[in-house]
Amino acid sequence: MATNRTFTMIKPDAVANGYIGAILDDITKGGFKIVALKYTRLSAEKAGEFYAVHKERPFYGDLVSFMSSGPIVAAILEKDNAIEDFRKLIGATDPAKAEPGTIRNKYAKSIDANAIHGSDSDANAEIEGNFFFSAFERF
Ligand code: RTP
Ligand code: MG
Repeated sequence: MATNRTFTMIKPDAVANGYIGAILDDITKGGFKIVALKYTRLSAEKAGEFYAVHKERPFYGDLVSFMSSGPIVAAILEKDNAIEDFRKLIGATDPAKAEPGTIRNKYAKSIDANAIHGSDSDANAEIEGNFFFSAFERF
């Protein structure tokens, strides 16, 4: 399969708990190349826009306030079969159900504060990467 891309964020809980380095190390050891990387913070408005697909869900308000509660690390990653392989590396949405050794199993405490985001499709990876990065910020 051709090399392709996914988008990730190290979420505010994992940043606050000091896991930026450990998570980037897991990502690199998982065979992903970092194409773009940024340390930033989402406003509530921007977080709401990013997760607009979940607008009607009961957890939307909590998700938006959590994702804007502190700085995050955003990145575009490249690997063959990137979307599926990265979802495997991060584990299930609820860290209590995430496989041992996955990023959410190791670094997340709850379904709300679950350490990391991973795109769910090629189309969304493209949209999410474009949300954070210009062409000049990709290598
Ligand atoms: P993400 O988009 O952040 O990578 O997470 P995901 O694909 O594994 O899960 P998704 O369904 O896209 O949900 C986005 C985030 O909303 C929170 N959530 N809470 N209480 C709940 O039932 C519930 N379901 C989802 C999680 O923090 C999830 O990461
Ligand atoms: Mg998702």
